[in-house]
Amino acid sequence: MSYYHLLWGWICLALVIFPLNLFITAPYGRHSKASWGPMISNRWGWVLMELPALLTFPLIFLYSPQAGRPVAALLLALWMLHYFNRSLVFPLRQKTRGKQMPLLIALFAIVFNLGNGYFNGWYQGFMAQYPAQWWYDPRFVLGGLLFGAGMGINWHSDNLLLRLRKPGETGYKIPAGGMFRYVSCPNHLGEIIEWTGFALMSWSWAGFAFALWTAANLIPRALAHHRWYRQHFPHYPAGRRAVIPWLL
Ligand SMILES: NC(=O)c1ccc[n+]([C@@H]2O[C@H](COP(=O)([O-])OP(=O)(O)OC[C@H]3O[C@@H](n4cnc5c(N)ncnc54)[C@H](OP(=O)(O)O)[C@@H]3O)[C@@H](O)[C@H]2O)c1
Repeated sequence: MSYYHLLWGWICLALVIFPLNLFITAPYGRHSKASWGPMISNRWGWVLMELPALLTFPLIFLYSPQAGRPVAALLLALWMLHYFNRSLVFPLRQKTRGKQMPLLIALFAIVFNLGNGYFNGWYQGFMAQYPAQWWYDPRFVLGGLLFGAGMGINWHSDNLLLRLRKPGETGYKIPAGGMFRYVSCPNHLGEIIEWTGFALMSWSWAGFAFALWTAANLIPRALAHHRWYRQHFPHYPAGRRAVIPWLL
């Protein structure tokens, strides 16, 4: 089976997962449930499930003919910046002592991250051909701006959330400031913008698939978070949307 047969299957799977996620909220964080089988530590679950993405792309890339080509190398560097934070920094900063997630959720996420790492790493390592003028191409420039803005929104919003709890606290408060003025889940919005930017910069079906998977995971999750906030906080800001300012 060829790379593109697998990739079309991967894209179709994201299109199936999206509506499923609208009905079944992945049980981790505030939605965690013990009815999904054996549980593991929330903190180490995050490390375990995100590390495959940090490792797969660079391992494939470093052993490929493209290793060191400048555009592909920059895309790899951006990927690693994101996943160094997500797999090693973010989990250690979370104030979730004593909280757990189902092992099954971590296993699903490992498959997701191995798939994305493989498709993007293989494309950049063995298939991508960027012309010398790609640095000035509107797709690359706009994609870079979106990637930077998305990462900025994601990191800033995650920071605001992580600062809500005092040491030892594990409960929830109404987040405020930054893009929380407009939406309940600006971290999710930022992540969707970030990988849409990456897809444009890389102008690849692998990048598109990752942006699609991110939206398929995070739009339903943001809607579930938003409903949860409204159920738990009677005075939750009325004009705040779930994930897209003024719209959704
Ligand atoms: N690319 C993808 O497909 C993908 C998929 C999933 C997640 N992600 C990214 O991974 C990151 C985490 O995702 P998530 O859905 O777990 O985010 P989240 O529910 O917003 O939680 C982020 C952190 O903040 C804490 N927190 C959230 N709301 C809080 C509140 N109101 N008061 C106090 N603490 C609060 C959470 O604690 P608890 O754990 O105790 O709730 C957790 O430690 C996000 O940046 C997201 O974009 C990406």
